[in-house]
Amino acid sequence: MADLSTTYMGIALKNPVTVAACSLSCKVENILRAEEAGAGALVIRSLFEEQIRHETGELDAALAKGSESYAEALSYFPAISHGEAKEHLFWVGRTREATKMPLIASLNAVSPGNWVAYAKQLADTGVDGLELNYYRVEADMTRDGLSAELQMLDIVASVRASVKLPIAVKLSPFYTSVGNVIQKLDEIGVNGAVMFNRFLQPEIDPDKETVLHEMTYSTSAEMRVPLRWIGLLYGKHSLDMAANTGIMEARDVVKALLAGATVVQVASTLFRNGIGHLTSLRDGLNAWMDSKSYASIEDFRGKLSQQGFEGDSVMFERAQYLDFLMSRQRWVKA
Ligand SMILES: Cc1cc2nc3c(=O)[nH]c(=O)nc-3n(C[C@H](O)[C@H](O)[C@H](O)COP(=O)(O)O)c2cc1C
Repeated sequence: MADLSTTYMGIALKNPVTVAACSLSCKVENILRAEEAGAGALVIRSLFEEQIRHETGELDAALAKGSESYAEALSYFPAISHGEAKEHLFWVGRTREATKMPLIASLNAVSPGNWVAYAKQLADTGVDGLELNYYRVEADMTRDGLSAELQMLDIVASVRASVKLPIAVKLSPFYTSVGNVIQKLDEIGVNGAVMFNRFLQPEIDPDKETVLHEMTYSTSAEMRVPLRWIGLLYGKHSLDMAANTGIMEARDVVKALLAGATVVQVASTLFRNGIGHLTSLRDGLNAWMDSKSYASIEDFRGKLSQQGFEGDSVMFERAQYLDFLMSRQRWVKA
C-alpha cells in the first residue's frame, strides 16, 4: 500500500482527494459519510454575501436586478431566507465539533468590509483553512481587466492581514495571465489556489423564451483547462494548487497530480455517483501508484508539468496547437 498522505497549505491530509465546496456539506451526516469514505479534507459550502445582507436587512436592488453573484447564490441556496450568516457560522462550528477531518470554510462576499469581518468569524469556528470564492462576472464594460484584478488582490490582502489561517483563493480561469495573478497572490502570502471555479452558465429555453439559471454538473472534458494551467505553473510559485472542475474518476486524480496539483477537489462526481465514490477515487489512486511502484505522492507529483522546461512556453503552446490543427487537416476528406 502506497503512502497517500500529503499536506495542503500546511494542513496534513491522509490523501489528496478532497470534497469541493458544495451543498453536500449542508448536512453533518454527509460530512461524516465523506470522512468515512476516505475524503482527505472537505471544503464547506460558501457563506454568501447575500446571506449576510439578508440578515442585516440589506438585501436590496442587487437582488431585484438578478446580478450574476445572486444568480449563483440562488442556485446553490434556493431557500436563501433560511440560510443567514449567523446560522451558517453556528453550523460550521457544529460541523467542526462533529468531525476530525480537515475542514476548510468558504466565503463569497462582495463588499470589502464583509470579506474581512466574515473571514474572521469563520476562522473563529476552528476550521483549518479558508477558501475565498471570489466569484465575480465583470459585466461592466467601462472597467478594465487590471482594475478588476487589483480589486480582487486588495480584498485578498485585507483578509490575509486579518486572519492567521491558511488561505486559498478559488480562481476564475478567465484571467489574461493566470500565472501573473498567482504570482501576486503569492506575494500577498496566500497559501493555495483552487483552479478553477466553475461559473454558472445561463441557458436559454427557446420554446418558453426564458433564461434558465440551472446548475449543471461538469464533465471530464472540462478538466483540461485546470490540467493545462497547473502543468504550466507547477514549481514556479509557492502556492499549493487544488485541481477543481471535471475530476470524475481515479485516473483524473492521477492526471491532476502528474500535472502538479497538491490536491483535487470534487463535487459533480459525488452528486452523480454518491459520496461513497470518494473511496474509489482514493483506492484507484493507490492502485495506480502500486502498479507504477510509487511509494509516495512526491515520487510523481508534477512529473508531467512544465517545470524544468527551458524553452519558451508561449512558443511551446503554439507548437502543440499547430500540430493539432495540421493533423486535423490531414484527417478530413474533401
Ligand atoms: C450543487 C453545487 C453547489 C455548489 N456550491 C458551491 C459553494 O457553495 N461554493 C463554491 O465555492 N462552489 C460551489 N460549487 C462549485 C464546486 O465547488 C466546484 O467548484 C464545481 O462544481 C466544479 O467541480 P466539479 O467539476 O467537481 O463539480 C457548487 C457546485 C455544485 C454542483
